Amino acid sequence: MINKILKKKKKDKIICLTAYSKNLASIIDNYCDIILVGDSLANVVYGMSHTHKITLSTIIQHAQSVRKGTKKSLLVVDMPKGSYDNVAKAVKNAKIIKKKTKCDAVKIESNKKNFKIISGLVRSKIKVMGHIGFTPQFKKKFNVEGKTVKSKNKLLEEAKKIEKAGAFSVVLECISSQAAKEITQHLKIPTIGIGSSSNCDGQILVTDDLIGLSGFYPKFVKKYCDINKIVSKAVKRYRNDVKKKLFPSQNNSF
Ligand code: KIV
Repeated sequence: MINKILKKKKKDKIICLTAYSKNLASIIDNYCDIILVGDSLANVVYGMSHTHKITLSTIIQHAQSVRKGTKKSLLVVDMPKGSYDNVAKAVKNAKIIKKKTKCDAVKIESNKKNFKIISGLVRSKIKVMGHIGFTPQFKKKFNVEGKTVKSKNKLLEEAKKIEKAGAFSVVLECISSQAAKEITQHLKIPTIGIGSSSNCDGQILVTDDLIGLSGFYPKFVKKYCDINKIVSKAVKRYRNDVKKKLFPSQNNSF
């Protein structure tokens, strides 16, 4: 499955989205190449202010649900902060994630020095997706990177080291269009962009943002529908029906 995705570089765009549960996964699986159980779960589902406190067991539980709805896409699971501080810990935890969720790969955020962790995982036959640019596990302040030549070159070096370490792809989060273009041109592995222009080999968004459920719509998000409005309307109709004794009808009764 990974080979099919790798072959898309320069030929076709790679479609990726996040999922945290079976029901949404089973819808998006029809259209995606990759489904990511992201640690954005912390903000989106658990209302936490950052991703730092989401635990390995919580991610695993959601990934088990997503696995049930994912038949054809590559399933990637984010390793939470603190679960890959050194090679031994990373390998131990990635093996637990793989065994319990039957995922195809894990994703780890780059802190500009964890290339050995990626190669350690790869040596242990674990497929790894890298992640550079805005990496919420390691950066407190949101910043679009790669706008200056110096910053762009640093990102390019980081991406090349991630590729050399053996990652099969890399997420570019909120980096300049020009930096995304150059990184994508230089790497053999696909780049997956979020807030990083159409110059990437693929795109990823948080599904809850795309469908208008999360309430979080930064510049790089396009809201493709307003599920919030749709659910509100439906629930309002339900409430009115119950009050007027129109629901449950005889059809809904035994
Ligand atoms: O956790 C997440 O959803 C992610 C994506 C933003 C790439 O890492």
